This record gives sequence, C-alpha cells and structure tokens, in this order.
Amino acid sequence: MVDGAASLAEKPVDALSEAEAADELGRLADEIAAHDRRYYQEDAPTVSDAEYDALRLRNAAIEERFPYLKRADSPSERIGAAPLEAFGEVRHAVPMLSLGNAFNDDDVVDFLARVRRYLGLSADTAIICTAEPKIDGLSATLRYENGVLTVGATRGDGTVGENITANLKTIAEIPDRLQGDVPGIVEIRGEVYMTHADFQALNARQEAEGKQIYVNPRNTAAGSLRQLDASVTASRPLKFFAYAWGEISMLPADTQSGMVETIASWGFKINPLMRVCRSADEMLRAYSAIEMERSSLGYDIDGVVYKVDRLDWQQRLGQVSRAPRWAVAHKFPAEKAVTLLKDIEIQVGRTGALTPVAKLEPVTVGGVSVSNATLHNEDEIARKDVRAGDTVVIQRAGDVIPQVLEVVLEKRPEDSKPFKFPTVCPACGSHAVREIHPKTGREDVVRRCTGSLICPAQAVEKLKHFVSRNAFDIEGLGSKQVEAFYAEGRIMSPADIFTLQARDARSLKKLKDKEGFGETSVKNLFASIDARRSIALHRLIYALGIRHVGETTARLLARSYGSFQAFRAAMIAASDHESDAWAELTGIDGVGEVVAEAIVEFFKEAHNLTALDALLQQVMPEEAERPARISSPVAGKTVVFTGSLEKMSRQEAKEMAERMGAKVSGSVSKKTDLVVAGPGAGSKLKKAEEFGVEVIDEDGWLELVG
Ligand code: IVH
Repeated sequence: MVDGAASLAEKPVDALSEAEAADELGRLADEIAAHDRRYYQEDAPTVSDAEYDALRLRNAAIEERFPYLKRADSPSERIGAAPLEAFGEVRHAVPMLSLGNAFNDDDVVDFLARVRRYLGLSADTAIICTAEPKIDGLSATLRYENGVLTVGATRGDGTVGENITANLKTIAEIPDRLQGDVPGIVEIRGEVYMTHADFQALNARQEAEGKQIYVNPRNTAAGSLRQLDASVTASRPLKFFAYAWGEISMLPADTQSGMVETIASWGFKINPLMRVCRSADEMLRAYSAIEMERSSLGYDIDGVVYKVDRLDWQQRLGQVSRAPRWAVAHKFPAEKAVTLLKDIEIQVGRTGALTPVAKLEPVTVGGVSVSNATLHNEDEIARKDVRAGDTVVIQRAGDVIPQVLEVVLEKRPEDSKPFKFPTVCPACGSHAVREIHPKTGREDVVRRCTGSLICPAQAVEKLKHFVSRNAFDIEGLGSKQVEAFYAEGRIMSPADIFTLQARDARSLKKLKDKEGFGETSVKNLFASIDARRSIALHRLIYALGIRHVGETTARLLARSYGSFQAFRAAMIAASDHESDAWAELTGIDGVGEVVAEAIVEFFKEAHNLTALDALLQQVMPEEAERPARISSPVAGKTVVFTGSLEKMSRQEAKEMAERMGAKVSGSVSKKTDLVVAGPGAGSKLKKAEEFGVEVIDEDGWLELVG
C-alpha cells in the first residue's frame, strides 16, 4: 500500500509546504464554492454540515499559517452564494453575518475569554450573555418602513440577497404591519423554518402527486421560499422566529434580551427557550437544558447561540471577517446509533467514481430512519477495517448523508473477511483505477471506472458530452433528446447515433410516431447526423470524454498524431511506460503524466475499443493539419530544448520552432531529431548522446532557422 495513501487533502496543515498550501487553498476555494452553490442555490447539499465546517476550518488554518497565500476568492471572505438570477437583488443595509462555532465546553470558555480580553474587562466583571436555540432553517430579513413591510430578502452572500418579499408575505407569522410604537425604519431578522409534522405531511402530499420529495425540513423551507410563484409558498406551512435586527432608525433597548422582547411586542414570535446567563456555567447549563428539549421541540435545531447581552459591547466587539465577535454558535454533537452493516455496495457516479455505501439494518437516528451510510472511499474502509456483517456506529450530522464512524469489534462474526474493494466497475465490468498525483506520487482517494464510453452509469453524461457544441455538435440532438433516446433504448453508445436512421427504417416503432416528433423534425435530425459523418480529428478526440482531455489537449493530440489510426496505435503502445510512444506522449508540451495516464487507461479498456471501432464504422475522422507541411530546415522534426537559453526565452524558442513546423518535445527519445542544449544541460543531453541524436547550441539553432 502507498504510504497511508492519503492525498494532499488529508495532510495536516502543519506539514504542508508552501506550494502544497497554495494548491490546497485553491482546491478548498473551489470545493467550498461548489458546496455553497448546492446548499444555497440548489437546496441540495451533498456533504454534512460537519464535513463542510471541516473544509472551512482547514481553509482558515492554512490561511493563518500562510497569510500571504490568501486568495482573492478566499471562502473566508464570503458567506453563502451569490443570489439566483430569477429574483431581484437586495443589497443589505447592514450585512447579514454568519456565526463562528464552538464544539465543546472549552470553546465556550474561550469565547468569553476573548470577549473579556478584547474589551479589557477585569476577571471579575460579569459578561452577561443570552443563550437560545440555533434554528436549522433559512435566515431572512424583513424591512419595515413606518411599520409596514416593504422588502423581504434572503441572506444570499451576506451582502446581497434575493428579493422574496411576495413569498415572505405569505407566512402567517410574519406581520405585514407592526404593532405599537415602532421606529420609522427597522429591519427584523430571523429564521424561516418548517416543523417536523408539517414537513412529513407536505412530503406525503408531494409523493402522492408525483412531485419532488424533500430530504429534510430545512431544504423544504428553502425550496418553498424560492418558489417563483408565491401562491406555492402560501400553500407551504412555514414559520418564523425573530432573533436579530439590521438597520434601525432608533434603538428601543440597550441589551440583546431587551431588543428581542421589544421585537416580540411588535408582533413577532420569539423563541421561548431563550435565557439570560451570567457566567460560562450558566451558559453551559442553558445549553444542556436546550439539548434535553431538542427531541420534543417538533422542529430542527442544531445548537445554541450565545450573544453578549450589552449592545454597547456588541458595538465595540464588532466582527472579524464574516462573523461577529460578540456571538458564537455552540453546535450539538452529531447524533449516533449502532446497527448492523449488512453489505457494502459500490455505486458508480456519473463521472465514473466508485463510491462505497454501507447498507444498514434500518435504525432511527435523530428521528430519521437510516438504511444507507457513506463509507467515503477505499482508504477509509481499509483504515476503519469495515466489513460486511460488522456492527457499526453511525453518525448523522447536519441531516445530510449519515456516515459510518467505527466498527464494534467485539461483535464481529468469526468468519468475517476484510472487504476487497473491486478493481472493476460493478456497472460495466471495465477496469477501475486510481490516479497518481504527479507531485506527491500518491494515489487519488477515488477509484474510477475507465469504461467511459460504455458504462451505463456514465453513459448518459458521456453521450451528452459527445453531442455537445465543441464535440460533434449535432443539431436537434441536445441533452434532453439524448436523455429521452437513452431511456427508450434507442441510443446507448455513440455509434448508435449514426445507425439511428437505418434502424428507424427497419423498426416498427418509428421516430416520427413519437409524440412531439414530426416528419420534418425527424428528417432534419437525420440530416444533421449525416452532416457529422465526417469530423475534425480534434473534435472526435474531445468527444470521447476521456478524463482530463479538454478541447485544448484534444487539439494538441490531433496535431501531434495527425490521424486517428496513428493516435489510436500510439496510445495503445504507450501503455508501456518504457516505450517511445509513452515518451512521445508525455513529451507533448501541455500533456502531463496525469493526462497521459488517463488517455492510456482509456485505450487499455477493451470495452472502449469495441465502442470506438463501432463508431469508426460510421464516421470518418479528417486528418489533422500537421505543421510539417511548412518547408523549413526543421519542419516535421522533433526538437528538444534543454539547459538555459541566453538570447531568448524558452517560450519564445518553442513558439519559433513551432512556427517553423517543428514539434517541440519535453523529453528525449530515439525519435528526437535535434537537441538544442544551453549551459546547464544535464540528463537530456546525456540521453541525446546515448541515442546519437544531433546536438547543437543556441547559436547553432539561430543559424539553422535563420
Ligand atoms: S444570530 C450576527 N441567532 O445561523 C449573527 N442566528 O450560522 C446573526 N441562526 O445566518 C445570527 N438560529 O441563519 C442567530 N438564534 C439564532 C439563530 C441563528 C439560527 C442561523 C442564521 C445565521 C446562521 C449563522
């Protein structure tokens, strides 16, 4: 096994080099942004809150160690995701903040100590704080002008939210008009949520009507609020707790607790469990009391929020990046349960990733019946030594995907055997591989199916890619049609597109008899398919959907190999890493080892070759224009530059060579025609001498190309 087989993502922050830290910050920025999008815009998170928090914590820790590496798009400068376009935007007069987290008693004590230090308070000055449930819903802000609700918005990215006034107005617990003596301008903030009972009733109704089933009350509340048609929101039983305020023209109280009581007097529901605490002890007692109530509240809460009570202190404490210094969220630990793991099932994702899933004897965790849990990946299974038949501890955090925490070894059956992670794809039988990271030499944690052309788990996505604009670009055959044709069994692999007409002519169930498909549209479709029977080589290569092979790489490959036959033969030969074919492939500037390996793996898979041959019966790839047609002393020759150049940059030399029709390679093989060696040339020069390749210096090169 590779040294822990841990990827960079698992390396402790302290152990990261500067370059690794920069890589990690980039990865984390992308990953967190993607999770934010799924959570805030699509209401469909794919990780638990705990996993998400861990990503943000790691990002913050790396930034703390390498402050100068902090990116412009750093997640720590951002809350949530930019608003959806469908709704108008609302710029918040006062930003809507997020909260820092406390995970245990010590963190709470630390919070008070930080407040004390920041304000310069003596050890015996009491810091009074409120403690209240953290509602697991969706925050909203409501602007009242002269007591009348004018604008209601989501948090969005904290600065700009979505204007969902019409939807918020349908919520009975949000008054259209405030009662009593109210400031001219006041923004009330709080949480929109749904009770368990209402959630279950709504989901039952959705199911009966064949509509979308929601995963939890929070997502349901979010989905309900984001309806473009407010009458749909009105039919959803949403509720609202007020707990904060934004812009306000006159402060009616000087404490947090006083403010919340005043807000209640204006006509809002406030949470009845809110307490005022005079010490860390009292705060922790309030926490325990709220935790005890948790299961009987009838709505989801995920922790307790403490807020410094004095508003003048809140003012002085201010905020740090996205969270106020005067408040903190004390999270509840994830809920756990013990159950039997019946089997480990490998699921294949749409990108070919093999993901292990634990099939469990159903067990109730935090009010929800759980029968599947994620095992993350191969290494996690090995690390925890999880086996079929084991009794396991599972955890459900943040109500997303439950995970297997550990095995109860005492309960392991005697005949149990370690789990063997498959090296072939369970969906299609193609071989499944783990990429090697070029810098660290470590295996990727994910094992992927290489049978991209034929794997049923990936087929639809691959077909959509195949017909997409920069690939085959078949008019009248977009994503929707591909999905429909696949579902009907008409198009299962790329070649099927081109045999559609012939099969249609024979088949009884003709295309034109399909609903929404007239005689003309069928004719047009066949015509646009025929128009692509001849295709540019780079488009064909790109269309194959080989991992890491985008348009640019496809063009490079087409230019380097000229014809599909040459390319195919070379890729098969390149599976031997000692071969010239491999040296040539990795020598193409812009084709790194990871890319090269992905291409080789694709051509190693017999299933792919079968599908490819079937396709080539139908389409004729055009020969790529090879730069060799230019007449110059170096046209068609393979040139390698090594050592330092003095009269021009490496890039300039390379471009010059390419203009003259030469192919520039990064490594020396028997096929190299010429090596241009400057001072400091090392192993490449040696290799050139070994192979008897002609070697010249920079001046010799300039003379040669004039
Ligand atoms: S106070 C300036 N109080 O938690 C602090 N937030 O993680 C503003 N939340 O965006 C938030 N219950 O959506 C506060 N009792 C509560 C809360 C609460 C839930 C949410 C809110 C906020 C998020 C921060």
